[in-house]
Amino acid sequence: MGTDNQMHAPQATTRRITLDLLCQMKSAGEKFAMLTAYDYPTAALAQAAGVHALLIGDSLATVILGHESTREAPFELMLTLAEAVRRGAPDVFFVGDMPYESIIDDDRALLAARRYRDEAGCDAVKFEAQPDHDELIERIASAGITTIAHLGLQPQQVLSPEGYRAQARDAGSVEALVTRARSAVSSGAAMLLLEAIPNEAAQAVIDAVPVPVIGCGAGPACDGHVLVTQDMLGLGAARPPKFVPRHAELGRAVAEVLRRYVTDIESGRYPAPEHVYPMRATTAKRD
Ligand code: KIV
Repeated sequence: MGTDNQMHAPQATTRRITLDLLCQMKSAGEKFAMLTAYDYPTAALAQAAGVHALLIGDSLATVILGHESTREAPFELMLTLAEAVRRGAPDVFFVGDMPYESIIDDDRALLAARRYRDEAGCDAVKFEAQPDHDELIERIASAGITTIAHLGLQPQQVLSPEGYRAQARDAGSVEALVTRARSAVSSGAAMLLLEAIPNEAAQAVIDAVPVPVIGCGAGPACDGHVLVTQDMLGLGAARPPKFVPRHAELGRAVAEVLRRYVTDIESGRYPAPEHVYPMRATTAKRD
């Protein structure tokens, strides 16, 4: 019935991961590990494994909801699930991703950022920063909310002519990326996330800004790395990008278990006697 939460109960870590700690790790040359999480049990397992940071990503739209693009991620659903993630991982550095619908205008974006912080206990919010977003970064940061600017490949821009492919692969576009990174940081971004760019481009950004830089397919120079958990576990429906290490093929294992469940029912092997509640012994005789 799934009523026993013992197995996935959040395990106490020795430290609460804060922005200060991630900055100290950067200064000491220590790398940090970040993953996506959209639910309580995954968050609890990640925290117990020592994952430093979790992101409730708008990738939920494709990974969990089966949409074509991340633009379909609903903010209210993400907020509810963010609360579940925080319950599962109270000690990690937790980032709420601002879905497309939440950054349609700056007032709405500020409200969404506040709700991630106040209702879900997020330590930071992240959004795909466009060249005209510096003022928004400034507004969110001046509200006391840690802001992460997502640059490089921006999945919400899937409809643009640039398309859904690796970015900053020539000198001119590396320079443009560095300029955008600098201006996001001067506007108040406390961290950057760089997706699908060469290591050389990531290094140029790291050399240009003092804040921690998280890579998602952005090479080893980055201070921390983030992946979509389902991609890494082999649980995703789509083929993952080339930078994802496949540490497991859990999709195949799950499919086998489900098939076994079906055949056990079809053959009558389930339910077996040990799965059946016995009647209570009757003590009093009826008249
Ligand atoms: O939504 C997401 O999962 C992301 C990636 C960078 C991991 O933004």
